[in-house]
Amino acid sequence: MKKSKVDLLIGAQWGDEGKGKVVDMMGADVDVFVRYQGGANAGHTVIVNGQKVVFHLLPSGMLYPGKLCIIGNGLVLDPEQFLAENAGLHERGQDRARLVVSPHAHVVMPYHKILDRAQEAARGKGRQIGTTGRGIGPCYVDKYARNGLRVEDLLDPDLLREKLVPLMEEKNQLLTRLYNEKPIPFDEVYEPAREWGKALAPYVDDVVRLLRAAVDAGRHILLEGAQAVLLDVDHGTYPYVTSSSTIAAGAFTGTGLAPCDLTRVIAVVKAYTTRVGEGPMPTEERGEIGELLRRRGGEFGATTGRSRRCGWLDMMGLKYSMELNGVDVLALTKLDVLSGMDRIRICSGYEYDGRRLDRFPTSSRVLEEVVPVYETLPGWKEDISGCTSFESLPDAAQNFVRFIEAQLDVPVKLIGVGPDRAQTIDRGL
Ligand code: GDP
Ligand code: IMO
Ligand code: MG
Repeated sequence: MKKSKVDLLIGAQWGDEGKGKVVDMMGADVDVFVRYQGGANAGHTVIVNGQKVVFHLLPSGMLYPGKLCIIGNGLVLDPEQFLAENAGLHERGQDRARLVVSPHAHVVMPYHKILDRAQEAARGKGRQIGTTGRGIGPCYVDKYARNGLRVEDLLDPDLLREKLVPLMEEKNQLLTRLYNEKPIPFDEVYEPAREWGKALAPYVDDVVRLLRAAVDAGRHILLEGAQAVLLDVDHGTYPYVTSSSTIAAGAFTGTGLAPCDLTRVIAVVKAYTTRVGEGPMPTEERGEIGELLRRRGGEFGATTGRSRRCGWLDMMGLKYSMELNGVDVLALTKLDVLSGMDRIRICSGYEYDGRRLDRFPTSSRVLEEVVPVYETLPGWKEDISGCTSFESLPDAAQNFVRFIEAQLDVPVKLIGVGPDRAQTIDRGL
């Protein structure tokens, strides 16, 4: 029997590391692409021959003809976004993969999005998370409170009505009494939801069975994480996190695959750090350097268009990330963005209260106050965006890569030198 290969790809920082590009770049060799957590808060960019596609909900493998693309049970699925994204691909002739949705994925309802925004506003200044407003938090709350609607519930109009009546009564109480919002008329939710059910029905299938069959048939499965380790609801910089398990472990609850199915964990690391939304970020550069990284790296959110906060690479966060995920290999992206800098800084430690910390602190409050300790590496002037081998990179760029490998004790098997699929140095990923 042919042995399957199950690769799990995660973002190692605060998101937007270039996961979409790496998934797409690996895609030719992959049989099954899977999203397993998060929802339309993600923005995964793929650029092929100058053509850009941003995936929010669909797996970044959708451009590959004939491949299987799966939305696992762990996602929260916004039906409008799902249908719009799929229709967009269809119009451009890019819906080449076979798409399947788990009946157990929870549905982001219109009231979740309203609640997301109302709760952010109610938190007030200084306590806001800076969510994407996509209804992610409130939908996961309903899932765990066992008040959620799952994709399968949309498929039966009578059952949907039965479940939706009490849910909407509760939501309207919340909206009107607590948040001063207008109540939502039942039919404004029910009628579209029925239509969503009809439109989703052809995609719904037993994902656990399909993945088991793929493993048994020796297929190559690529599990595509969204968000990133430091946004994990348990292990991230709480409360400035998203509401799902973004670490490797989330891939098992979010799909029904078993830990023993896993072959490798691939962590995507950007050559510097970015963060969107609120929360601690020790290496943030608020001045010229931050502006330079933002401009050169095009650091504006793929989902909300917000400016990303930018700063130097942070080894403390990355070491923590390696521990939590058992990372086998690294994909280092956006190395080209650092070209032209005289010196490159890497944070190798934190100081807090006059003491040196030897680990990423458990408390977000402490993290807010740490002072990063930097090592300085020489930069390079050359444009590296056309480099196709490690050896063709300038010595200083090679040293930067080796420094990261030595610090994290994990090999860098892929290097991004530009946004296009082709601008990648593959060192045997
Ligand atoms: P994701 O959420 O992790 O998939 O990342 P995003 O798509 O939100 O953001 C990454 C951005 O960097 C996108 O605009 C990509 O096109 C771009 N990108 C990815 N890899 C590279 C790279 O190696 N070099 C450059 N210059 N841009 C890259
Ligand atoms: P990808 O997959 C970067 C951030 C938001 C906010 C926090 C909570 O493209 O890397 P949420 O809407 O999830 O409740 O927001 O998480 N966030 C992301 N930041 N990349 C993402 O996804 C993100 N998804 C959520 O900015 O700070
Ligand atoms: Mg993104």
